[in-house]
Amino acid sequence: MIDLRSDTVTKPTDAMRAAMASAEVGDDVYGEDPTVNRLQDRAAEVFEKEAALFVPSGCMANQIAIKVHTDLGDEVVIEDRGHIYLHEMGSASVISGVLLRPIRSRDRSGHLEWSEIEPALHIDHDYHGSATGLICLENSHNMAGGTVMSAHHCKDLCDRAHAHNIPIHLDGARIFNAAVALDTTVAELTRHCDSIQFCLSKGLGAPVGSMLVGSRGFIDQARAWRKRLGGGMRQAGILAAAGLIALEESPKRLHEDHANARRLAEGLAEIDGVSIDPKSVVTNIVIFDVSATGRTPAAICEDLKQQDILALGWDSVIRVVTHNGNSTEDIDYVINALVKSSSL
Ligand SMILES: Cc1ncc(COP(=O)(O)O)c(C=O)c1O
Repeated sequence: MIDLRSDTVTKPTDAMRAAMASAEVGDDVYGEDPTVNRLQDRAAEVFEKEAALFVPSGCMANQIAIKVHTDLGDEVVIEDRGHIYLHEMGSASVISGVLLRPIRSRDRSGHLEWSEIEPALHIDHDYHGSATGLICLENSHNMAGGTVMSAHHCKDLCDRAHAHNIPIHLDGARIFNAAVALDTTVAELTRHCDSIQFCLSKGLGAPVGSMLVGSRGFIDQARAWRKRLGGGMRQAGILAAAGLIALEESPKRLHEDHANARRLAEGLAEIDGVSIDPKSVVTNIVIFDVSATGRTPAAICEDLKQQDILALGWDSVIRVVTHNGNSTEDIDYVINALVKSSSL
C-alpha cells in the first residue's frame, strides 16, 4: 500500500526503535524521566522559549493551551478550516467552556490578516458579547493545502493581538514543514506566539506525541491540565526517545516530502478535469479538485485503493500527504493511477 491519507501513518525508523529499546526512564509524573526531560529541554531550546511539555497528542496539546489561556465563556478566534475548529470534536467547548469564532480567510490561504480578525474581536466587555480570550493560528495550514505563514505575518498578528492583551496560540502540528518551505527556523516563525504545539508523530515520524512550548508559567499550568485530562504518563521516556530523534534528525529530510508533493501536483495538473496550481504546493500536502472529471472523490479513492493507494476525499476534493514512506517511483505510480481513475 502507498498510504497517502496523512503523514500520521509514518512508522518509527530503525534508529527510533533502537533508541526506544535502550531509553533511560523514570516516573514522569514525578518529573523523573531523564529522557522526557531531555526532550522537553531540547524542544524549549530549539524554539528559544523557556519551557516545553511532552503530551500524548496534538489535540491534547491544543486543548491544554486553550484551557490555560481562556476563561469560561470566552471566544476563541480561528480560521474557519482550522483543525481546532473542524477536527477536535468540539473539545474547546467541552473542556474549556469557550465559543469558537470561525472566520473565513478572504484569499483562502488559511492565514488570516489582522483586517479580517479585528472586526470579530470583543474587547469592550459590554456584558453582551463573549470576550475574545485567544486567537488560534495554524502553520502550516492542513485543510488549506499545507500553506505557510511567514514570520513577518505571524509577528504582525501577535503584536496587534498583544496590544489588546489577547494571547496567540499556534497549532504548529507541521511547523517544521513550514520552516523548511520558508527556509527559516521554527524559533523565528514562532517567536512572538504565546504558546505553540508541534507534532512529533506526523512528518517527523515518531510513533506518538506532541510538544507544547511556551513560558515557564504557561508550561507549569499546562502540566497540571495534562494531568487533569489523564495525560500524565509514567515511563514515557520510551516514547520521548523516539521523539528526540524525530526532533533532531527528521527536519533534515522534510524537503524530500515537499519535492514529492510538488512532483505529484505537477503530474496532477496535466490530468483532464483535475484542478490544482502546483505552485501553491509548498509543503507536503496536496489538495486537488476533481469535480470536472465527472467522478466523485469517493469513486476515485475507491479506484485508487484497488491499485494499492490510499487517499482521502470529501466534497469535490482529494487530499494526499507525502511522508518518509514514499519514493519518487511511488509518486509516479500514483500519478499514473490517477490518470486512469479520473477518466473512467
Ligand atoms: C493541524 C493539526 N493540528 C492538530 C492535529 C492533531 O494531532 P493528533 O492527531 O496528534 O491529535 C492534527 C492532526 O492531523 C493536525 O493536522
